[in-house]
Amino acid sequence: NMTPGRQLGCYQDEKKLRILSNFYGNFLNSNTPQTCLDICVQAGFPFAGVQYGSECFCGENLPLLSSKINEDLCDMKCSGDPSKICGGYFTMNVMETGLNKFTAVTPQIVKNDSEEPARIIFLLTLNGRALRQVNRLINSLYRANHYFYIHVDKRQDYLYRKLSPLEKVFPNIKLATQRFASIWGGASLLQMLLTSMKEIFNLKWQWDFVINLSESDFPIKSIESLQNFLSVNRGYNFVKSHGREVQRFIKKQGLDKTFIECETHMWRVGDRQLPRGLVVDGGSDWIALSPAFVSYVVGNKDELLKGLDVIFRHTLLPAESFFHTVLRNSIFCNTYVDNNLHVTNWKRKLGCKCQYKHVVDWCGCSPNDFRIDDWPRIQNTQERQLFFARKFEPIINQEIITRVEQFIGLDDHYLLNNLEGYWQNIYDINDLTASTDDLFLTHAGSMIRHNSRILRESQCVINPTEIIEINLYNYEDVYKGNLILHKATLIDGTEILLETWYKPKQYTMFNFETPYGDNIKIFKVSSDYDQKEITFRNFANILGPLSEPNLLYQFSPSMTYVKGDNLTVVWLDPAGAIADVNILQLDDNNLTNFIKPQLKVPLLPGVWKVSLFDKLNMIVMTKFLILPLEYFSGKETTSQEATIIHSGSQNSYKNYTNFKGNNILPNEEESLLLKKVAQANVKRIGQDLREWVDNLTFAFYSILGTCASPINTKFSNTVCGNHKFELCSSTMWSSLSLDPKGTIGKLNEKTGRLD
Ligand code: UDX
Repeated sequence: NMTPGRQLGCYQDEKKLRILSNFYGNFLNSNTPQTCLDICVQAGFPFAGVQYGSECFCGENLPLLSSKINEDLCDMKCSGDPSKICGGYFTMNVMETGLNKFTAVTPQIVKNDSEEPARIIFLLTLNGRALRQVNRLINSLYRANHYFYIHVDKRQDYLYRKLSPLEKVFPNIKLATQRFASIWGGASLLQMLLTSMKEIFNLKWQWDFVINLSESDFPIKSIESLQNFLSVNRGYNFVKSHGREVQRFIKKQGLDKTFIECETHMWRVGDRQLPRGLVVDGGSDWIALSPAFVSYVVGNKDELLKGLDVIFRHTLLPAESFFHTVLRNSIFCNTYVDNNLHVTNWKRKLGCKCQYKHVVDWCGCSPNDFRIDDWPRIQNTQERQLFFARKFEPIINQEIITRVEQFIGLDDHYLLNNLEGYWQNIYDINDLTASTDDLFLTHAGSMIRHNSRILRESQCVINPTEIIEINLYNYEDVYKGNLILHKATLIDGTEILLETWYKPKQYTMFNFETPYGDNIKIFKVSSDYDQKEITFRNFANILGPLSEPNLLYQFSPSMTYVKGDNLTVVWLDPAGAIADVNILQLDDNNLTNFIKPQLKVPLLPGVWKVSLFDKLNMIVMTKFLILPLEYFSGKETTSQEATIIHSGSQNSYKNYTNFKGNNILPNEEESLLLKKVAQANVKRIGQDLREWVDNLTFAFYSILGTCASPINTKFSNTVCGNHKFELCSSTMWSSLSLDPKGTIGKLNEKTGRLD
């Protein structure tokens, strides 16, 4: 009563596909002596089946033998409806009505028939500084009967420090003590997962599944529905397979290459042959595993595990293949479910830009952050067994996270303070020294001096002292500036905490007389450009002599232009010398892009200019600031250090004397003067250096507000001279104001949730 057809399809329900595969499994188990190939051919599949244990799979996870039906064709068919799973190589016509007549073949798994809902360990593998988002994630996942095992990248001491107190408050939250510098795609990522999983067994937790999640994952269904789903699927192991031809996957993934991880880099050292007779499988490294399987993987190693251990210690993106391969080749093969429970926001054109070349000798891809426009993609997962989505980053888009929370049942958003606010720390006084600290401290020190000068105009005399934190502040997904939390003493000696809010100014000049002038949407310089999200991660444009500035430009997509036309980008240093020239060729794929100039560090401190020219006519010009360093290696810059870091690298510039762009080049006299000033600046140290720093910062940043907070109970008066400070706790923009979504909630004993 079931005749599979030959339709290439898009399917809405992964479970149906599984059942269909298993139907053939049943068929194989019947008394008819048939090969798997016979069964698939009889069933109308244009390619062979693959036998795993007693099951014959004609569709799912198959190496594709017919190159005619390829992924692209499938993607083409399915792209019209993102809600559907791409059926890939499935060529059957699923009969909606007939399906439920067939029961799935039950894999040989140890069934736990208890009525208790499945208990989950959320293995959080965290990186970065998005503390409030991690808190929000924990708030949404937390149930008293589940567990959290948290690994924080060894280099992220801020996140580790801030999350550590949770262990004392919640018996079901533990932080990994053995920490790895788990670089992107590194072998250490698998070592970290295996070590964490081993450690979990020492905790004597009662659990049914371990699910790994990162700082950029978020649930898209209620935890109860996840729990229900897992309760009836105990013993299975959820991993997602690549769904393409195996050899192609091996090549794409670099599995046929040996890598060595050393000094936080994955070095590719040569080709290798994978062992014969091993079913190689892989795909996503977001997994949900059963205790039996995890216990096997981290327990005493049999021949299979010993061998795989050697291979995977030298494998790029190891967690994307290790668990799949162990499952396929071990007694757990019948527990394999091709579903990673995740929907991933792949936008390969943006996410595959070889952005990890500095970390791995390979071109890897990353999914994009979900933004509010991507909402339908999440909404359409409602009917599917998908419980998480990635990636989310509130610094890029927070509205989508709020929408998801509403979707999964959090209906009291309207009660929350600061729902649209987002704060992300970029500096904390207790951070183990980072190379950027000299720049941050110079910049922030100058900003708070700037603020105290402004306050003095209202007879409020303060002496700013220690910088405690610097935070980025977004409101309604718009960057609103930075916040510096610092100590200060008042004229009577009282010590208080102040938070200063400020924002960078933009100096961009357009020439509307050129045809391109009014078609420039963005022309901006900063550093840490993220090609995937098309944004600078250095939101406040804090640049110093050791920074690597990039130019981001965007022309209006409706602009009329001659394809292939060349425009010229000119970088002018503070001494008026041309430091670099780049050619920008106009074509449809290049209307938004970034330019990385060839500039040697140290860059000459002061005000730089970048201009775009059409022949000799300037279209647009922007200025950016390279801040001299008041501190070097955490101490005041000495004259010897200043000679090295503030002299620039003019001798590395090419000769651009032929360039004669209008309006930008200083004349001879000006040029001489600028050079003299630059030479004199090199000698500046101490107070003189601070004055130079201050003049530059004051020109490039505006102060927007200050709030105050008592350090001890003595301070109750918010009046300072003629100025009245708002209390930070009741100042909306302050990082000290209430932010319930970004703060770990209190345990509600009744519901077992965090309120
Ligand atoms: C993509 C894939 O989706 C993912 O499955 C694969 O592991 C890496 O490539 P991507 O978004 O690029 O994901 O990676 P990201 O989420 O940034 O990092 C993956 C995991 O490694 C996260 O848990 C992250 O916290 C951790 N990580 C990353 C570190 O611990 N340290 C790092 O330096 C980078």
